[in-house]
Amino acid sequence: MKEQLATIRAQALAAFDAAQDSAALDALRVQYLGKKGELTAVLKQMGKLSPEERPAMGALANEVRAALEDALERRSQQLEEQALERRLAKETVDVTIPGKPVKMGHRHPMYIALDELKEVFIGMGFTVLDGPEIELAQLNFDRLNAGEGHPSRDWSDTFYFDEDSRVMLRSQTSPMQVRAMDSMPLPIRIIAPGRVYRKDEVDATHSPMFHQVEGMVIDKGVTMADLKGTLNTVVEQLYGKGTKTRFRPHHFPFTEPSCEMDVQCHKCGGLGCPTCKGEGWIELLGAGMIHPKVLEMSGIDPNVYSGWAFGIGLERTAMRRFKIADLRLIFENDVRFLEQF
Ligand code: PHE
Repeated sequence: MKEQLATIRAQALAAFDAAQDSAALDALRVQYLGKKGELTAVLKQMGKLSPEERPAMGALANEVRAALEDALERRSQQLEEQALERRLAKETVDVTIPGKPVKMGHRHPMYIALDELKEVFIGMGFTVLDGPEIELAQLNFDRLNAGEGHPSRDWSDTFYFDEDSRVMLRSQTSPMQVRAMDSMPLPIRIIAPGRVYRKDEVDATHSPMFHQVEGMVIDKGVTMADLKGTLNTVVEQLYGKGTKTRFRPHHFPFTEPSCEMDVQCHKCGGLGCPTCKGEGWIELLGAGMIHPKVLEMSGIDPNVYSGWAFGIGLERTAMRRFKIADLRLIFENDVRFLEQF
């Protein structure tokens, strides 16, 4: 019986080690440890032993059972680990896991309007410039013919960084005219979009931060007719063929003559309605022929060269383009609003 147990132990251990998967191992478990298994069969013969032999043989049988169970457990773990390793090597990406839905965003309506505007100007040979929001008062005012004492320089309108009012948040994109004249060869055709800052309270049409797009052309023989022709073309491309414009005289320190351009109201077609405050027209931009003094300050001879410039409010352009009634909607980033465009 002792030999029988030793043989079973040796055979079982060898068989467990040779098993190549958990199904085979399970079969071996039944074969050796099951109710009709080999070890059980031996134990059933215990009754035939003398009372003296029984305890020692019982202890041995239990030891063999424990050893087999132990070996089974170890082999089973080994096989599981091997199987996992094989699976991981094979499926580096588990394509059976369902994907997470990706929420697609899109451009902000104001940037849609800006991109359309850029597209039109790039098509006409303009270069797009980027400029600093922290600007020298010298470029924002002096070089644009708005010297000391000009009302727009007032502390109540402008965000200055220093007591001497030399560094400021730009109040317009027009200093980009000066930066372009100082750094680019003639002729010049540029637009320069960006943020500008003024001390305004927030309401349906005002914000202390808003966006402008500056535009400028300098060449020989440039006239007001070029200004009107170009801006009319831009407006037709943005708002559709036949969109009517009107040019009203205005004043800016850095252009002479100066004007504001209105677009016929898209809501009422010029009859007058709440959107255009009964006017029939909506103001879109300021423009004019560059003042000879501004050209001179940048070292350009106004007897040889002339130019025109404009500054357009980007929020206003987007509001007209998408029929948005309140400026604040553009900045609040409410997804329920933004999703509509
Ligand atoms: N900078 C002016 C403004 O902010 C607009 C403008 C630009 C006017 C260029 C004329 C020429 O109102």
